[in-house]
Amino acid sequence: MTMAKVLVSDPIDQVGIDILSQVAQVDVKTGLPVEELVKIIGEYDALMLRSGTKVTQEVIEAGTHLKIIGRAGVGVDNIDVPAATRQGIVVVNSPEGNTIAAAEHALAMMLSLSRQIPDANQSVKAGKWERKRFVGAEVYKKTLGVVGLGKIGAHVATVARAMGMKILAYDPFISTERAEQLGCRLVDLDLLFREADYITLHVPKTPETANLINSETLAKMKPTVRIVNCARGGIIDEAAIAEAVKAGKIAGAALDVFANEPLGESPLTELGTNVVLTPHLGASTAEAQVNVAIDVAEQIRDVLLGLPARSA
Ligand code: NAD
Ligand code: MLT
Repeated sequence: MTMAKVLVSDPIDQVGIDILSQVAQVDVKTGLPVEELVKIIGEYDALMLRSGTKVTQEVIEAGTHLKIIGRAGVGVDNIDVPAATRQGIVVVNSPEGNTIAAAEHALAMMLSLSRQIPDANQSVKAGKWERKRFVGAEVYKKTLGVVGLGKIGAHVATVARAMGMKILAYDPFISTERAEQLGCRLVDLDLLFREADYITLHVPKTPETANLINSETLAKMKPTVRIVNCARGGIIDEAAIAEAVKAGKIAGAALDVFANEPLGESPLTELGTNVVLTPHLGASTAEAQVNVAIDVAEQIRDVLLGLPARSA
C-alpha cells in the first residue's frame, strides 16, 4: 500500500510534522504562490496550513485526492469551505489552541497603546530620554467595551476586570447569565460605542461585522477612546480609523490584523505614537503553536487512518 501524502504549506511547529509523519509522507513547502499550489496539490491526500495560504476554489478543484484540509488556528476564512464541502473534503481547525495567546496579545496591545511603549522603546534606543513626551493613560477604573464575548473576548474581559476595568459587552449570541458570570454588562452596540474608553474586537468576520468600525460608528465614540483589533482584518475600515486618529476624533488604535495582509502601503503606517501595529501575531506564541499543531495534526492523522473527523 502506498503511503498517504500531506502538504504543509505554512510554518507549523515540528510536533505537528512528527505526528503526521507516523502515517504519511510529509512535504513542507511554505510560501508557494497559488499557481504553484494548484500545480502540485493533486498529489496530496491532506493539506495543513495557517493563515498564509489562500485555499481558493481553484486550489480545491485541483486537489482531486484531498480528503482533509487542516487549519492550524481558529479562523477558516482563508479556505473556501463551501467548495471543499462540495468536493467531500473535510475542513478542520483548532478552536481553542490559541485562545490565551490571542487574548494576551489584545491586552498587550491595549497597554502598549496606553503607555506608548513601542515609541518610547524606539526613543530610548535612539539615545534619547523623553520622559515628558511619553505620558500615558491608566486602564484602572476605565470602561472596556468587548465586542464578541466568545473564548478570546471572555478571557480578555476576565483579565481586564482584574486590572480594575469595568466591562461592557456586546454579543447577540451570549446569555445575560454568561455575561454576568464573567462580570460583564451586556449592552447594545450603540451604548458600548458611546461609553467605552477602550474597545476590543473579538468577533469573526461575517457580513454583519465587516466594516463594523467605520466613520459613522467612530463618530459615536468618545474622543478619548482607544480601539484594539486582534480579531480579523476588514472589521475596521482602515482608512476611516486612520482619518479619525489623525483628526483627533479618537485617541488611538492598535491593530494586529488587516483587510490585506501583508499590510503594505497604508495611511496607518504614517501615523505616530497613537497607532500600534503588529503583523498578525495574535497566535504567535510557542505554546499556542504547539497546541494548534498537535490539535490539527491529530485530526489529519485520524482521517488518514479512516477514523471520523470533527469538522470546523
Ligand atoms: P469565538 O467563536 O469563541 O467567539 C466569537 C464570538 O463572537 C462569539 O461569542 C459570537 O457569539 C460572537 N459574535 C458573532 N457574531 C457577532 C456579531 N455580529 N456581533 C457581536 N458578537 C458576535 O471565537 P474566538 O476564538 O474568541 O475568536 C475571535 C476572533 O479572533 C475570530 O475572528 C478569530 O479568527 C480571531 N483570532 C485571531 C487571532 C490572531 O492571530 N490575531 C488568533 C486567534 C483568533
Ligand atoms: C487564527 O485564526 O487562529 C489566527 O489568525 C492565527 C493564525 O494566523 O494562524
